Amino acid sequence: MRRAKHPICMVVLGSLVSVIWGWPFGPHLDMDVTPRTTVHISGLLGCNRFRGAVVNYSSMLLEDGLGFLYVGAREAIYKMDATNISHNSTLSLEWVASAEQKRQCLSKGKNNQTECYNHVRFLDRYNDTHLYTCGTHAFRPRCAYIDVAQFTFARFEEGKEKCPYDPTKGYTGFIIDGEMYSASQYEFRSIADIRRNFPFPNLRTDDSPSRWLLEADFVGSAFLRESVNSSIGDDDKLYFFFTERNVEPTAYSSQTRVARVARVCKGDIGGQRTLQRKWTSFLKARLVCSIPEYELQLNVLRSIHVIEGADVQDTIFYGVFGLEWRNVKMSAVCQYSIRDVQTAFDGPYMELQDSKWREYTGKVPDPRPGSCITDQHRALLINSSRDLPDNVLNFARRYPLMAIQIQPVGGRPLLLQRSLDYTKMTVHQVTGLDGHVYDMLFIGTDDGWLHRAVKIRGRMHIIEEIQLFREKQPINNLVISQKQESIYVSANSGLVQVPLSSCERYTSCYDCVFARDPLCAWDGRLCVEISSYPNRSRLIQDVQMGSRGCTNITSDGFVTHHTRVVMAGDDVLLQCEIHSNLASPRWTLNGQQLQGYAVDFGFRTGNDGLLIIGAQIQQSGHYRCYAVENNVWVPVRSYVVRVQPVSPPSSHTSPNPTALPESFFTTATAPTLSPSGGPVEQLLSPPPAPLPSGPEFQTFRHMEAMYISLVAVLGGLCLVLTVVLLYVSFCARSVPNVRKYSRQEFSVTMATERKRSSHFELKTVSSHCNGRIEGRSRAMSQDGEFLQIISADVQSSPCKDPPPAPPLPMPPPLPSTEYANGLSATLPSMLRKMNGNSYMLLTQTDSGMTSPLYHSFTEELNKILEKRKHTQDIQPDESSV
Ligand SMILES: *[C@@H]1O[C@H](CO)[C@@H](O)[C@H](O)[C@H]1NC(C)=O
Ligand SMILES: *[C@@H]1O[C@H](CO)[C@@H](O)[C@H](O)[C@H]1NC(C)=O
Ligand SMILES: *[C@@H]1O[C@H](CO)[C@@H](O)[C@H](O)[C@H]1NC(C)=O
Ligand SMILES: *[C@@H]1O[C@H](CO)[C@@H](O)[C@H](O)[C@H]1NC(C)=O
Ligand SMILES: *[C@@H]1O[C@H](CO)[C@@H](O)[C@H](O)[C@H]1NC(C)=O
Ligand SMILES: *[C@@H]1O[C@H](CO)[C@@H](O)[C@H](O)[C@H]1NC(C)=O
Ligand SMILES: *[C@@H]1O[C@H](CO)[C@@H](O)[C@H](O)[C@H]1NC(C)=O
Ligand SMILES: *[C@@H]1O[C@H](CO)[C@@H](O)[C@H](O)[C@H]1NC(C)=O
Ligand SMILES: *[C@@H]1O[C@H](CO)[C@@H](O)[C@H](O)[C@H]1NC(C)=O
Repeated sequence: MRRAKHPICMVVLGSLVSVIWGWPFGPHLDMDVTPRTTVHISGLLGCNRFRGAVVNYSSMLLEDGLGFLYVGAREAIYKMDATNISHNSTLSLEWVASAEQKRQCLSKGKNNQTECYNHVRFLDRYNDTHLYTCGTHAFRPRCAYIDVAQFTFARFEEGKEKCPYDPTKGYTGFIIDGEMYSASQYEFRSIADIRRNFPFPNLRTDDSPSRWLLEADFVGSAFLRESVNSSIGDDDKLYFFFTERNVEPTAYSSQTRVARVARVCKGDIGGQRTLQRKWTSFLKARLVCSIPEYELQLNVLRSIHVIEGADVQDTIFYGVFGLEWRNVKMSAVCQYSIRDVQTAFDGPYMELQDSKWREYTGKVPDPRPGSCITDQHRALLINSSRDLPDNVLNFARRYPLMAIQIQPVGGRPLLLQRSLDYTKMTVHQVTGLDGHVYDMLFIGTDDGWLHRAVKIRGRMHIIEEIQLFREKQPINNLVISQKQESIYVSANSGLVQVPLSSCERYTSCYDCVFARDPLCAWDGRLCVEISSYPNRSRLIQDVQMGSRGCTNITSDGFVTHHTRVVMAGDDVLLQCEIHSNLASPRWTLNGQQLQGYAVDFGFRTGNDGLLIIGAQIQQSGHYRCYAVENNVWVPVRSYVVRVQPVSPPSSHTSPNPTALPESFFTTATAPTLSPSGGPVEQLLSPPPAPLPSGPEFQTFRHMEAMYISLVAVLGGLCLVLTVVLLYVSFCARSVPNVRKYSRQEFSVTMATERKRSSHFELKTVSSHCNGRIEGRSRAMSQDGEFLQIISADVQSSPCKDPPPAPPLPMPPPLPSTEYANGLSATLPSMLRKMNGNSYMLLTQTDSGMTSPLYHSFTEELNKILEKRKHTQDIQPDESSV
């Protein structure tokens, strides 16, 4: 079995990899959406947590009006105050499977560490005074009524018809109008079924001549009141969403499973002789979520959310899809319209002929099999499903599958994630300041993160990704409370209540507008939740474009100004931290834009800053760093760099710190650089003219450029390999909280909009890894950040691990200001001077915000770096080795 699967898997993997590899060059690059910001658990605001004595929090029932959240976990049910789940008012109800039950479960060959417990799977309102709940009860399901006022069990009953035995089997169900519907794999043998559990008569699916459901794994269900204002006297309907074993012919023959939607009518009471106590209205159709040009079909449904329209015909639903191979992570979100589902159910049937499925082209009996009882039936004196003629019921039994496949709105996914498994999703509709109703998707991942996304003109924009749980674990369930403006997220280890938005996280008008969060707007001073803001007339929000409205650049201007004085030939790093994963850094020198890699002038820009390699006198000037997002240039930092000619060596043989210019070690505010508050346009779009270069040097420079590029490319490759090797050997599989979108990279190619496609991308070294790197500094790693300089020079590191750096001579004594933060003593072990002329800066920040210490600290490092370079120029003993 396992062996047979492997080659197929490899082939599929291979083709998948080639498909994915080809994507960056395809036309739909933007389908792999990068979250704009990354919020680690330490940066969470206003969250309330609950972690009881038990684990496996899964089912949730929110009663928003009454302000209670009920949560089902392993062997317990909780009643929580929805305003704050951390309050000590939480009540718990223990529901433990007996020791005898667990012993029997173990003897059935089940795992007593995970399966032989009572996992609460069902929780819903039964009547005004009672809830109804079901649990797996150590592979012997039980159900119970809970007295809400007392929060005690009122009565227990048998549950094997209503609840799966296995805690991991997909399950969906609800109680509506006093009727309980459930869909799962029941019994010890795991038989998939959709059922009406009460009242009498119970209904189920048929299994002859062939099963209607094949190992179906259910993810969701919906009840739509289609009888209201129906012109044909239609019935209310129930929809069930699942993935099942595939029997149809398919273009993707390697896939064994298929996503489906099935439907039954609420008024169905089964047939008289044929289909007795079985659904007479069961129909199912395929849900397609694919990218046709890549022949990629995401065939496993993981979650579904239905949004009922004002008119039931306007109902839409979103589905999260994945792949059936456990070792390939990929997720997509597709949107569907209920009209397309209805079209499929009104269309042709499929039939099984010579063990092949094909469209049925024969005669269809009247009234149409599988339809609900409508006025058309009543005109034929068919008042209920029991009055249906046998030929109709026999047809319905034999042809449950529809031929039309339900395509997503727009024909393709709204969102694709290539290396992520989404587990659960819920949708919230928000009216923006522009009057549009936006669908906000909250999607949980398999490793404890939450993505907040918004659909804008048919595309998904991920506002942020939020780390909710420190331990990697799948998000089990998501429920939104409109009243509390919260989302409740359950996982194995606990429960967390997160505000629907945390607008205060955006610290400037641009940040607020770029976020494109329909819940947030800029009030001139702060980014605020519009729901809590009484006067909306002055608020600024631009969900559609994410760029308009902020005109007051002075409030965002260059926050920090620095002066740097360096010696000619030094390498200078000008830092520029950008928080948005979607922004690109742009630099100007004296108002002229620097290209990403200006060989002639030895600049390199990366996402951390600008590196000037071997500074020359003419590189002095005003450097400004902008974060460019949605075509808006937002100033971040500015520097005045003064490159001084190297003094004759004699004056430096005995280095005397006091001889250095005073400004060498001071970070000064340069008042001349303060934004003048001039016209905004001027600041927003600096002249993009490249730097002029002298024609007389052109030929020489050209060759030099080629040589340098070659060296740089080879060096970069070596370095990437080395770093990957190091990374793999040090941190493989044991790195939590690695920042997902590494922005700390120095790209040797031209800076491009895309960050993740760079060939020179470096993995960020995580703080977890620090402990194994020799010579780490405790003072530095306490922030989880460190700076490391690694050579990119091909000559000194011929494609293997760099040789251990020679011990460095201590730098000359530094002025006392240098020791202000007490870090200099640890610096020599951190800095590794390389023979080459290029450096890598690796930083790791755990939170989105960097501490002031970080900046001052890296600046100290830079200065030392510059100084060391300078010293070595004078005493070239080391570089000549
Ligand atoms: C329950 O949680 C534990 C970890 O806390 C996990 O290993 C196990 O798979 C979970 N069981 C289910 C049914 O989700
Ligand atoms: C929720 O309750 C906990 C415990 O009473 C308290 O510490 C926390 O601040 C509360 N959260 C909010 C948002 O009020
Ligand atoms: C909850 O905490 C408050 C004070 O923090 C205390 O007065 C109250 O008795 C506590 N309630 C319960 C049920 O423990
Ligand atoms: C599971 O069963 C083993 C015997 O097979 C027993 O030693 C162990 O204590 C049991 N664990 C639990 C949690 O019941
Ligand atoms: C709700 O159902 C329970 C259990 O069947 C029953 O005892 C109770 O009387 C019912 N309450 C009402 C208000 O009907
Ligand atoms: C049904 O029609 C009535 C009258 O036309 C209207 O007032 C009502 O809102 C409609 N209900 C729904 C759910 O569309
Ligand atoms: C269906 O209902 C109509 C009126 O409600 C009644 O006249 C007719 O006899 C019923 N038909 C059957 C088969 O019960
Ligand atoms: C513009 O910025 C100035 C100075 O920060 C501030 O006083 C003023 O209120 C701002 N105006 C708007 C419309 O934001
Ligand atoms: C809202 O602000 C506008 C403009 O400042 C002002 O004219 C209006 O009176 C304010 N409305 C309320 C209800 O405060």
